[in-house]
Amino acid sequence: MPPKRKTKKRRLKRTLPGDRTDDIASMIRVDHAGEYGAKRIYQGQLAVLNKNPKVEKLLAHMAEQEAVHLDFFDREIADRQVRPSALHPLWHVSGYALGAITAKMGVEAAMACTVAVEEVISEHYAEQLAALENNQHEKRLAAVIKKFKSEEEEHHDIGLKNDAEAAPAYPLLTKAIKAGAWLAIAVAKRV
Ligand SMILES: [Fe+2]
Ligand SMILES: [Fe+2]
Repeated sequence: MPPKRKTKKRRLKRTLPGDRTDDIASMIRVDHAGEYGAKRIYQGQLAVLNKNPKVEKLLAHMAEQEAVHLDFFDREIADRQVRPSALHPLWHVSGYALGAITAKMGVEAAMACTVAVEEVISEHYAEQLAALENNQHEKRLAAVIKKFKSEEEEHHDIGLKNDAEAAPAYPLLTKAIKAGAWLAIAVAKRV
C-alpha cells in the first residue's frame, strides 16, 4: 500500500523578521498582547453588561481565566526579558472598545465577539503548539499553551451556548472581528 500523503498544513507567508512561529520571543510577545487584549475585551463587556447577573457571572468567569493567562505571560516577558508589544496603548483601548461596543449592541453581540475572538486565539495557539511540537526546551511552555487553548475553546463554546448566533448580522460581525484579531496577531508578533 502506498504511504499516505501528508495533508499540507496551512502556512502563512512568513517573510518579515520576528514572524517565524518558532521564534519564542515573538510567541511570548504576541501571546502577552493577546491575553491583555482579551482581558480588556471582558472588562469592556462587564462595564456595560453588569445588570444581568447570569451574563455577568459568565463574563466574570472568562475574565478570571484571562487574568491567569495574562499573569503567566507577564512573568514570561519578565523572566525571558522579552520586549513587550510596543502597541500596548492600542491593545488597551481597542480591546476595551471592542468589548464595550459589542456589549452595547446586546448580549448576543457580546457573545458573538467572544466566539470570533476565541476562535482566532484557539487557532493561533494551535499553530504555536504545532511549531513547538519537537522543541525539547519548551515543553513547559507548550503544556501551558495547551491548557490555555482548551480554556479559550471553552469561552468560544460559552458564546455559542448563549445565543451568539442570534446577534444582528452575526456572519458579518464575526467575520470583521476575526479579521481584526488576525491582523492584531500579525502586528503584535513584530511590533
Ligand atoms: Fe486567554
Ligand atoms: Fe479567552
